[in-house]
Amino acid sequence: MILLDGKKVSERVLDDVKERVEHLDKKPFLNVILVGNNPASIIYVNNKRKAAEKIGIRTNIIEFPCDVDEKTLLDTIDELNKDNSVTGIMVQLPLPEHINKNNVIKSILPQKDVDGFHPENVGKMVLGLEPYFYPATPQGILMLLDEYKINPEGKHAVVIGRSNIVGKPMSQMLLNRNATVTVCHSYTPNLDEIIKTADILISAVGKKIVRCKMVKKNSVVIDVGIFRDANGKLTGDVDFDIVSSSCGFISPVPGGVGPMTIASLMYNASKVYC
Ligand code: GUN
Repeated sequence: MILLDGKKVSERVLDDVKERVEHLDKKPFLNVILVGNNPASIIYVNNKRKAAEKIGIRTNIIEFPCDVDEKTLLDTIDELNKDNSVTGIMVQLPLPEHINKNNVIKSILPQKDVDGFHPENVGKMVLGLEPYFYPATPQGILMLLDEYKINPEGKHAVVIGRSNIVGKPMSQMLLNRNATVTVCHSYTPNLDEIIKTADILISAVGKKIVRCKMVKKNSVVIDVGIFRDANGKLTGDVDFDIVSSSCGFISPVPGGVGPMTIASLMYNASKVYC
């Protein structure tokens, strides 16, 4: 079994991005909107800010209380869209229930949508056209697979989870790489049977769901989940001890997809379109 070392690969990606930023005429300026005080969101945003600053990307975190109204967010994004010094805008998700997240996402200029969540960027991705940005987590996972020379072409890729942030773009990007893709979710019967047929298994659920020993022999297992178990220990969707004895490659939690997501986002943030 080979460990897919996201920490090591992410450091290499970040070194490349740092060098790229050094040579840019116009320096990137990432603006992050953070609403409320969701503890996970605060940690994610801080991690993004720290990573950006290390590689010379200027950041600005714009914080709002959880009762902020939608119009205030849309007005803020409008100003950032018009500000020529701002090259990247992201709104940390989730947003409070009273805000329509789709309205917020589609108000971001596609050329500044470093998350790759705007309908124009998503639509281009689906059509196989070049979007300005690909979503960070699936792009980071593909960077990790590429680093280990794992080519999805012709493989059966099983994606568990259908979120707009990971599952849907992941399945589409694997399809674009000529994988045969099965997307599973909470309504999928016989999940265990499908898991057994995966050459590449990607789990993005947030619960311990891949427990069975029967992952395909020598398969590639990517664990996107990250949460704390009953003992407060950081863990992922995959029962690492059991699954790692049968698969060929596995990404650990922590130290797998998490650092790759940050590196991938920094790669996006280093792209300047305006
Ligand atoms: N919340 C969890 N993951 C993400 C992400 O990739 N981007 C944004 N904006 N919010 C998130």
